[in-house]
Amino acid sequence: MIEPARILVAVGGGIAAYKVPELVRALVGQGHTVRCVLTDAATQFVSPLVLQTLTGEAVRRGLLDVSEEGEIDHIRLADQSDLVIVAPATADLMARMAHGLANDLVSAVLLATRAPILMAPAMNVNMWNHPATQRNLELLRERGVLQVGPESGELACGWEGLGRMAAPPSIVSAADRALSSGSLSGQCVLVTAGGTTEPIDPVRGITNRSSGKMGFALAAEAARRGAEVVLVAGSTSLPTPEAVRRVDVGTALEMRAAVLQELEGATVIIKAAAVADFRPREAADRKLKKETLVESDVMSLELVRNPDILEEICQIKGERIVVGFAAESHDVIPAARRKIERKGCDLLVANDVSRSDAGFSTDLNAVHLITPDGAVEDVSLRHKAEVASQILDRIEKIRGEREA
Ligand code: PMT
Repeated sequence: MIEPARILVAVGGGIAAYKVPELVRALVGQGHTVRCVLTDAATQFVSPLVLQTLTGEAVRRGLLDVSEEGEIDHIRLADQSDLVIVAPATADLMARMAHGLANDLVSAVLLATRAPILMAPAMNVNMWNHPATQRNLELLRERGVLQVGPESGELACGWEGLGRMAAPPSIVSAADRALSSGSLSGQCVLVTAGGTTEPIDPVRGITNRSSGKMGFALAAEAARRGAEVVLVAGSTSLPTPEAVRRVDVGTALEMRAAVLQELEGATVIIKAAAVADFRPREAADRKLKKETLVESDVMSLELVRNPDILEEICQIKGERIVVGFAAESHDVIPAARRKIERKGCDLLVANDVSRSDAGFSTDLNAVHLITPDGAVEDVSLRHKAEVASQILDRIEKIRGEREA
């Protein structure tokens, strides 16, 4: 059960604003005190009177309105909120948030609040994919702004693709998660992320396309839920998420050593890294000269097997919850079922890496959560931060079942 909270819903001027009354109604139904602030444009899409009636609270629109400011000024509105939901977060509103503008009530409140902000973006697919919007999104995420959606599908503008605002029940679930941070406090979560690089010589190596985004999203979300987080990171250019202790490694052997070193205190281990199964038998200490090595335009490398870190830790895991990943390109579910049986982990997150919109390097992912009994739960295409959140929900469920 989520404790009743004070939620401020900041409504942006987009067609998706028509869904806000349903959102507000669900939040009020959960016992929350809900207040709404609207941009001028939002009032064209949703009636302030409807929101005022559903919330039982005065709706605010103007920053410079003497009577509105007199009742409760915008700074108090920002201060007296436990969570701010921005729905719909239009491209314009996201840009204003990202750049710290405060030229109307909604943007001023968003700049002044110290409460967590959860945004539900909604816009045309081309506006969403525009580099300016994506850069603003990155800035907002770096600052800890939470996100739900957008979803993919038919858009009000007639286009098809990502841009539809998350459905009100999904926004309510995301708000629940935002308000229940601390659910992993007392837990120590060890996450591996990124690819390993197996050196051939000082300038060359064997690596893979893992960007680290999936593992970093898991580390960030676990930290937000109050866990102590250790992130063992292979090759990646991502910044360290807030409140996360990071250990950088290069090779699979280094990753194994770091994982075993950190294992002692860990209660949950999530192996999102893409670890090389093989490494060159020997790495040359000088750059190999192609003229002296290559005969008939063919060069052979002798590879030896790397230890399977996941399998190894599953053998000694004790009470720890161990989550593995599987990158599969065909027969995803049967292959993943065989993998969970072979490796012995408590949950396997299977990616279909033949998709171009999910898996390696993308911002989005679509996965199947597979348990040792072979049951499958699908997580459809969404941002990796949201996939991470669903994986952690599942881990919390496993923990709850064990405790019960
Ligand atoms: O980093 P991103 O760009 O965001 O992409 C995310 C991802 C696609 C890399 C990630 O979601 C993913 O699928 N990671 C696992 C990739 C992989 O190596 O899969 P695998 O099927 O080869 O390995 C299965 C599991 O065993 C993995 O948990 C892996 O970490 C582990 N393993 C594999 C080999 C090895 N020698 N030791 C291991 O521990």
